[in-house]
Amino acid sequence: MRNAFISGVGGHVPPRVVTNDDLVADYGVETSDEWIQKRTGIQSRRFAEAGVGNADLALPAAQKAIAQAGIKAADLDMIVYATLSPDHCFPGSGVLLAEKLGLCEGAGASFTPAMDIRNQCSGFVYGLGTASSMVKSGACEHVLVVGSEVHSAALDLSGRGRTVSSLFGDGAGAAVVSATDEDRGIQYWKCGADGRYAHVLAQKIWDISKRPFIPQDGDGNGIVAPEMMFANMDGRTVFRHAVERMCFAVISACTASGITGDDVDLYLFHQANMRINQYVAKQLGVPEHKLIHNIDRYGNTTAATIPLLMAEAVETGRLKPGMTVACVAFGSGFTWGSALVRW
Ligand code: ACO
Repeated sequence: MRNAFISGVGGHVPPRVVTNDDLVADYGVETSDEWIQKRTGIQSRRFAEAGVGNADLALPAAQKAIAQAGIKAADLDMIVYATLSPDHCFPGSGVLLAEKLGLCEGAGASFTPAMDIRNQCSGFVYGLGTASSMVKSGACEHVLVVGSEVHSAALDLSGRGRTVSSLFGDGAGAAVVSATDEDRGIQYWKCGADGRYAHVLAQKIWDISKRPFIPQDGDGNGIVAPEMMFANMDGRTVFRHAVERMCFAVISACTASGITGDDVDLYLFHQANMRINQYVAKQLGVPEHKLIHNIDRYGNTTAATIPLLMAEAVETGRLKPGMTVACVAFGSGFTWGSALVRW
């Protein structure tokens, strides 16, 4: 039977480390290390330098994943690119990455199709599901799934925005999903969405129903008010729904696959908040040794959290062939998703 397995993973974070104290000292955020650590578990995050775009950050992650898969970039049949911080409104960052990977010129130009997924924190799991289906159907042999975010450019570092701006960091992760006849790979995936909560965590920038869609001054220059320009979040509502949806997603994945939580060797939870993940783990009875985190070092890197965890787990030997891995994510939309992978 044709299966879809993860043949290579890679991660990349920008070099600049910004601690909680740096947020106060260098950026003037009215916060404290104690407040952030106590509520979120975050100690530091990475910020990209000006001039580094989303696809720039994704490139090294993608190259590592492609190398680990033992293929060339031109062997990719598709790029699925998850981000909430694309380089531009359009075109998507997937095509920018394709160009950077060298897929668009020269004798071997493959003009590999690239599409962006706009599903925020659960974007990578949506991408994994899409890639798995494309490979299992026979439409593709190798699909590159990317999660990449440059949050630092669009954080409201004033007192008004501190609840959100304390949480997020920059980073990118990538995985190659490839065809195999072996009994391994993405065994199950399921995603969900509840648009009734679309307003609870959103960064609108504009309202396309309005004329003009962005207010303009007398000279025709766009004026974006802070409440439209930056992300707004009702943190408590997000917290409550994240816990419920993530628990349910894990239980559904195990039930549908005929296994129990005890059969899972490693849980890769989306890294929104250490407290959310501790709560979910407690509800599900997941022991600490089956969990890995990066929120303490990277903050919430949204679509990149899970592939970054995967890349680190492979690199450190925590994730080995034969292990059963549960990936679970929840975020803006609300959207969520889970995937069970036999590594
Ligand atoms: N530093 C210092 N004080 C702060 C900060 C900050 N960074 N942010 C908020 N405060 C203050 C508020 O102004 C408020 O002060 P007040 O009581 O004087 O008015 C007080 O702290 C409490 O504010 P709340 O927003 O009620 O804080 P809460 O205890 O709910 O914690 C948090 C906020 C950490 C965001 C929490 O709601 C949470 O964990 N929510 C989950 C949402 C999440 O993790 N989102 C991540 C993105 S979504 C995703 O990836 C799933």
